[in-house]
Amino acid sequence: MEQFTYIQESPASMTESERQYFFMEQAKEKRLRKEEEVGHPLTFCVTTFGCQMNARDSEKLEGILEQIGYQKTEKEEEADFVIYNTCTVRENANQRVYGRLGYLGSIKKKKPHMMIALCGCMMQEPHVVEKLKKSYRFVNLIFGTHNIFKFGELLCRAMDSDRMIIDIWKDTTQIVENLPVDRKYSFKSGVNIMFGCNNFCSYCIVPYVRGRERSRNPEDILNEIRQLVQDGVVEVMLLGQNVNSYGKNLEHPITFAQLLTQIEEIEGLKRIRFMTSHPKDLSDELIQVMASSKKICNHLHLPLQSGSSRILKEMNRRYTKENYLDLVERIRNAVPDISLTTDIIVGFPGETEEDFQETLDVVRKVGYDSAFTFIYSKRTGTPAAAMDNQIPEDVVKDRFDRLLTLVQDISGKMSGRWEGTTQEVLVEGVNEQDPHLVSGRMTNNVLVHFPGDASMIGQFQKVHLDECKGFYYMGTPV
Ligand code: 5AD
Ligand code: SF4
Repeated sequence: MEQFTYIQESPASMTESERQYFFMEQAKEKRLRKEEEVGHPLTFCVTTFGCQMNARDSEKLEGILEQIGYQKTEKEEEADFVIYNTCTVRENANQRVYGRLGYLGSIKKKKPHMMIALCGCMMQEPHVVEKLKKSYRFVNLIFGTHNIFKFGELLCRAMDSDRMIIDIWKDTTQIVENLPVDRKYSFKSGVNIMFGCNNFCSYCIVPYVRGRERSRNPEDILNEIRQLVQDGVVEVMLLGQNVNSYGKNLEHPITFAQLLTQIEEIEGLKRIRFMTSHPKDLSDELIQVMASSKKICNHLHLPLQSGSSRILKEMNRRYTKENYLDLVERIRNAVPDISLTTDIIVGFPGETEEDFQETLDVVRKVGYDSAFTFIYSKRTGTPAAAMDNQIPEDVVKDRFDRLLTLVQDISGKMSGRWEGTTQEVLVEGVNEQDPHLVSGRMTNNVLVHFPGDASMIGQFQKVHLDECKGFYYMGTPV
């Protein structure tokens, strides 16, 4: 039997992506042998925590698993291979992973051939890996954010081993192109344009777990989108921690605005979205491109974090309240009916009631269509974690509730401003509650439900917006 468990090394002349396909082929043989042993086809279930970047990474994991021949299942308890793609931006995401992992351990006791893999941002933290090694010995494979392209190769090793395989890289400059991807939607797709972050906002762990900023070559991005369009995609979401600094470190630097102009020219592509934009890097060139574009959606996510210039300085955001409001004004002058959304953190160390009032003031002045509000979470290793005057829980909770009330009041009014108009909606799916309805999104990203059926999925439909229900509309197709 020995020769069957041997992993053949790849020929030295191969590119990294060829190497990975080479290992996927070997993993395929191992899967077939395992299926013979257990007597049924092997299934997998990938669970994603966190942001759109992670969601896109999970599509890559699924692409590799399907290439190896695993079958997808939504039922985690029944899967032969469970993968958690984790997030660590706030502590509660970590706690959820540990909780669910405990439960998985009890299932694995009854089903020893079951495999469990953990990857994503949480794995880049040494204290997490230590804890897993100590208390969650039943996990088969642990890898990080920098070597996700090696999943096929690592899986090959894990399939042969009864020990925990751990492969975490501190950082990388490598970007491996052309690996398999299994897209969740046939008609829209995320597209990574850059990885990592160089901003080091003082509360944020992302630069430590996602590494330094690296942009993909424009040609690779354009080719990927052209291919997606050929496969039926009409909407892309360009992904990066800070898309406004795209291209600065390329051998032939180009700006994000220039990249957008090139993407705009791709025939058959109908909508372009992007996230996230850092206010400090949002250029007038970009505002102009947004104003003149026919494809860039009428929506901008512009994280505020705090409305207090003093706190923004402590957060290392490198803009002031006034800079932010001025930027919003310039954007609104160029694109008058744009939807603005944001992220806000409450309870950053040293935040006073006056600072908090400044945040409320910006929320009132800008009039966001929606806002994600977060309670500050202390992340080990970040500068803010070592700051004095962390805010007591009850004070933070009280501020959070007041912010949420204001945000809901304003965003309810703001998103209601389209009532009675007719808008183009890209249909995303049949409504989960009512099978006679379909659900889709307008250019401003707001959801609309209206009568229809599955044949409309992926199609654009003009819809009269009959009634705004807070965060979504009920409509009638016209
Ligand atoms: N605590 C709370 N919220 C955070 N975010 C990032 N780090 C933290 C933290 N330590 C929020 C920011 C960011 C969003 C993705 O998560 O608002 O924009
Ligand atoms: Fe975190 Fe700031 Fe980078 Fe966003 S820009 S990922 S908040 S460090």
